Amino acid sequence: MLCLTLTGQTMEENMEILARNRSFVSMAELRLDLLDCEDPKQMSLIKSFEHDSGIPVILTCRRKTDGGLFDGSERKRNSILRKALEGGFSYIDLELDTKKAELEEYAKARGTRIIRSFHDFSGIPENTFSTISKIQAKGEIPKAAVMINGIQDLITLYKVREASSGKEMIIVGMGQYGVPSRILYRKFGSMLMFCSEKDTGNTGILTPSAMKQLYHADSIDFRTTVFGLVGNPVSHSMSPAIHNSGFEKIKFNAVYVPFLVDNVRSFFHFAEKLQIGGFSVTIPHKIAILPYLGRSSREVKQIGSCNTVVREGACWKGSNTDYYGFLSLVENDIANGKIQSAIIIGAGGAARAIAYALRNRKVNVLILNRTLEKAKALAESTMSSYDSLENASLYSGKADIIVQATSVGMNDEDADAAPNLKLTGHETVCDLVYSPAETAIIRRAQASGCRIIHGMDLLLAQGYLQFESFTGFKYP
Ligand code: ATR
Repeated sequence: MLCLTLTGQTMEENMEILARNRSFVSMAELRLDLLDCEDPKQMSLIKSFEHDSGIPVILTCRRKTDGGLFDGSERKRNSILRKALEGGFSYIDLELDTKKAELEEYAKARGTRIIRSFHDFSGIPENTFSTISKIQAKGEIPKAAVMINGIQDLITLYKVREASSGKEMIIVGMGQYGVPSRILYRKFGSMLMFCSEKDTGNTGILTPSAMKQLYHADSIDFRTTVFGLVGNPVSHSMSPAIHNSGFEKIKFNAVYVPFLVDNVRSFFHFAEKLQIGGFSVTIPHKIAILPYLGRSSREVKQIGSCNTVVREGACWKGSNTDYYGFLSLVENDIANGKIQSAIIIGAGGAARAIAYALRNRKVNVLILNRTLEKAKALAESTMSSYDSLENASLYSGKADIIVQATSVGMNDEDADAAPNLKLTGHETVCDLVYSPAETAIIRRAQASGCRIIHGMDLLLAQGYLQFESFTGFKYP
């Protein structure tokens, strides 16, 4: 069940939020601490809300100390909840340290289930397992909302599922490291997961459309294979959109999740626990991942960097689809002789994969980099030529393909790494930067009539190859 947390300041606003998201969720949480419960009209709308909305509703009045907005007395909170409850609700959320015997009796008599919640914004309390069991033993539904500070915490949270032996509970891993526990809530043993249009407390809560349309979180079952992206940061990646829509198209029971990873070793431990099928690797882990691979393909050994890992029997196998993705876009022109020489701007990790790809296809390569020593090192290991980026103008018209492989131009549409390198129109120009789509060098290339390979073309090409490694099927 996906549960929409309603963050409106009035019931009218909440009705609108629910209407917008109705097709994504099957229940809602009404947050009384965000509403004016003194207003009789609002209270009347609150009381009839479950009836009016036609879905099960959790009634919550969250205190400031638990991440909510209510800062009145406990007596006041009690009376607000009691009054609202008269309308009839499926669930009421009461904190572990609140003792409201009368309210609890009233709730039970009305058939309202009690969710017994505890929050920890610093980490996972040591007694989490025993607290959950005690709440379950009382016939209430435990809700643990705890901060996840790294992959190791995610493993601990996953173990809670094993301790709880299939009884009802709600488990929420907060913060950016906790995002996988939200998407994979069913695998983490949680009976529902919250989603919201707004992340007011920076808790990592996802939107209803992301949970439903992008991740199909409520359809994930024990047979669903988990894939993902390992990196830091991962929140702006396009890969979940690429892979999840691909899985959906070919009816492949899998989900692709962004994993914010602080420690690669812990991630492998987690991947074993969850039986993850494979993952993409991005900055800054493409090199750190290498010692954990049981097998790696030839280009990974050559380049010394890996962006795709799949489970193969008992071991993890690494490949590099940045390499093959790039080649898939230039292979024909290399084969028919149109591309015989190349200039690569940059000498970092991305440039390295391109340099090996071109050299392995016998294209002559010149590396131009701001820092000459780095250009020299890459040129020596790939048997290429090199020069300083300052001298770029000397090489105008001298290459069949120019590959812009620095970070220059990322989120800056006017920045050009090599403004002095003139374009003649006969060369192919490729920029690895994909945001913005039209970088300064790409606009110059367009004006000169060059063939263009956008960063997005490369991103998709490497993603399609990854999809094939993950599923064994062509990207639909
Ligand atoms: P990646 O793995 O994305 O390639 P990287 O290994 O950090 O990232 O490499 C970044 C590349 O962009 C390098 O070639 C870097 O040049 P230096 O080796 O001189 O650092 C290049 N780069 C970054 N900012 C640059 C700038 N403002 N002008 C020119 N080159 C730049």
